Amino acid sequence: MSKQLILALSKGRILDETLPLLADAGITPVEDLSKSRKLLFDTNLPDVKLVIIRATDVPTYVQLGAADVGIAGKDVLLEHGAEGLYEPLDLDIARCKLMTAGVTGQSPAKARRRVATKFVNVARRYYAEQGIQAEVIKLYGAMELAPLMNLADEIVDIVDTGNTLRANGMEPRELIAYISTRLVVNKAAMTMKHDRIKPLLARLESAVKKRQTQPIE
Ligand code: ATP
Ligand code: PRP
Repeated sequence: MSKQLILALSKGRILDETLPLLADAGITPVEDLSKSRKLLFDTNLPDVKLVIIRATDVPTYVQLGAADVGIAGKDVLLEHGAEGLYEPLDLDIARCKLMTAGVTGQSPAKARRRVATKFVNVARRYYAEQGIQAEVIKLYGAMELAPLMNLADEIVDIVDTGNTLRANGMEPRELIAYISTRLVVNKAAMTMKHDRIKPLLARLESAVKKRQTQPIE
């Protein structure tokens, strides 16, 4: 196993909040990520590299050892499964909830429910646990449209302010899980590269704590 440390970062809404935490942990990319079409970046540390990939691909990269460490939402991790991964740190960013939601004022279908979501594994597990028969329909975005278009009775999606639901005549129903961004580590790398990963973890942990104790302005 090479001594290089590869960190897989989720592009999109998590990235802007991830970079200051990494900077606090002593890792900064050598170029402006937002101004580049590159996907693999050098950092100030010669043996640490960053890959910037789709959030849903982060667990795959880390699980298969193409990256040693990854940063991804708990929603993505729940959907992907945790085999081959340690999840040692909650970075406490992008907090939100994974919920079921439906058309406002409409009670959920009693019998078989049609559920639209991109979190098909989470949804199947959740409805099975509740003893509710569900036909889970995979979508890749704009889940809130599905009940309006009579494609589904209910959706499983991320809820933060609830604005997206409200804007589409929908309301949250049941909480499935509280979500935040997590640091994941490849299990083999945790052993083989422990001397590199341990201090990174410690510095990220103290960066997270520092943010949590900062007064809100
Ligand atoms: P992709 O574009 O690859 O399909 P995505 O659209 O799910 O990914 P983002 O919208 O960038 O990705 O969200 C990344 C992560 O941020 C999610 O996995 C989730 O953990 C969190 N997140 C998503 N929506 C919100 C929100 N409204 N408020 C807070 N956190 C959120
Ligand atoms: C996310 C999520 C919901 C919305 C919830 O979408 O998919 O649609 O945020 O947030 P709210 O409760 O504060 O409205 P995002 O804005 O990331 O767009 P996306 O559909 O491209 O993922």
